[in-house]
Order: sequence, then C-alpha cells, then structure tokens
Amino acid sequence: MARTLFVLTGAGISAESGLGTFRDTDGAWARFDPMRLATPEGFAADPVLVHAFYNQRRRDAVRAAPNPAHTALARLETELTSRGGRLFLCTQNIDDLHERAGCRAVTHMHGELLRARCVACGTEPVWHDDLSVETACPACGQRGGMRPDVVWFGEMPKHLEAIDEALAEADLFVAIGTSGAVYPAAGYVAQARAYGIPTLALTLEAADNAGMFESTRLGRASETVPALVDEVLSGRL
Ligand code: APR
Repeated sequence: MARTLFVLTGAGISAESGLGTFRDTDGAWARFDPMRLATPEGFAADPVLVHAFYNQRRRDAVRAAPNPAHTALARLETELTSRGGRLFLCTQNIDDLHERAGCRAVTHMHGELLRARCVACGTEPVWHDDLSVETACPACGQRGGMRPDVVWFGEMPKHLEAIDEALAEADLFVAIGTSGAVYPAAGYVAQARAYGIPTLALTLEAADNAGMFESTRLGRASETVPALVDEVLSGRL
C-alpha cells in the first residue's frame, strides 16, 4: 500500500547544522525581542535593526550544511515516491537545508530567508546576500522596499490550503524539532488526530503540545530521524 506521510519540521531539525532555534534557552527569542525583529511593525519602526538580524541568520544559513536528519528525509521522499507514495514536507524553517539535502517538494509555511520580497511590486527573488534599506528591487528598481521573504508574527502563513489538503490524505503525522508554540503549525497534530491519523513527535525536550501526540521520542534529530525513516521504509511504522 502506497504510503503518504505528513512531516512537519521546526528549528530543532537544523540545530545540529549549527542554526540556532528560537525558544531553547540560548534561542533567538531568549536573546532578542521577537516583537521588534519579527513583526511588520518592528520592521517599519527600525528596518536597519531587522535587516541586521536577518542578514546574520542568512549568512549562517548559507554557511550551514544539512545534517543526517535532513538527508534521511530526502531519502524518505525519494523512496516513498518511487513506491507510488508521497512525503508532504511542511517546514516552519526559513533555511534551505531540506532542499540542499535533496528534498524536491518543500512547503515553507513561514517563507524563505534565502528569498527577498519587494513591498512595492511583490517580486520574490532568490537572495543570498545582505539586504539593506538601500537595496533596489531587481524588478521595479524601487529602493527601501526590499524585506526578507519570511512570515512575521501577525502575518498569514503560506500554503495553508495545500497543507490542509495534505493533512487529510496522510496515514502518518510526524513533527520533528518543533516546540509546538506557534499556530497554525502547532494545531496540525490535533487536525491529524481528528482524521484518525497516528501522530509522533521527535524532539529534544517535550513540546508545548506534547500531550496531543500519541507518542514522543526524545533525542537528537540526527539520530532519531534516520531511525524513523528506516522504520517507515521497512514497514515497521
Ligand atoms: N534535535 C531535535 N530537536 C531539537 C534539537 C535537536 N538537536 N534541538 C532543539 N530541538 C527542539 C527543541 O526541544 C524544541 O522543541 O526543537 C524545538 C525548537 O523549538 P523552537 O525554537 O520554538 O522552534 P520552532 O518550533 O521551529 O518555532 C516555530 O516560531 O518564532 C517562530 O517562525 C518561527 O518557525 C518558527 C516558529
């Protein structure tokens, strides 16, 4: 029987690639104020500060390398697809480590740090360099309107319809490396339960919504994810 898996990933899957998480003790929101750095109001109030924050995270993301957890999910996607099944990979992450590990279909519900967006004309070019208030839009030439193409608090996440459709078709829901603190992503486990889909969380510490999962495996993603992929591909899960 062809398998359809829904996998939701969060910052924890990229932690072992050297990219900081948000809510761990040393996370970004433990050190910086998300209201100043991750809201449209914060960007309007101090674009120089916000560009500096995301420029540093973009440089880190470009320098980072996929870890065995990313690679295992790419193997899972390839194998499931070859058997006529599907991996729907929904990530809250804004790095491109899933793609660089070989995943072909990645749904970035919080946008992509390695894209920019022009607020004047809406163009969303791939962007690996620093952004500033002087950056001119490559399409319309407007200066001062280029922002990271990421979803900030108070903004609508992307691809919500495709995500809901994929959830309804899945036969297993797995959340990897996410604290379950931010909706709508944190509510997907409840939706999966409502569809009668088995739910599993792989994380380092119990997530905020841990009680919603039928089972949780604590550990480092670089160890727990390859083991999970072996179980799925051998029919043990
Ligand atoms: N292996 C597995 N899990 C890990 C690892 C690791 N090596 N290191 C940390 N984790 C887990 C933590 O236990 C925690 O549950 O990853 C999770 C990180 O949680 P957050 O920092 O809250 O990241 P995330 O859940 O992705 O945040 C969701 O919040 O700020 C917004 O848009 C931002 O996408 C982000 C969203």
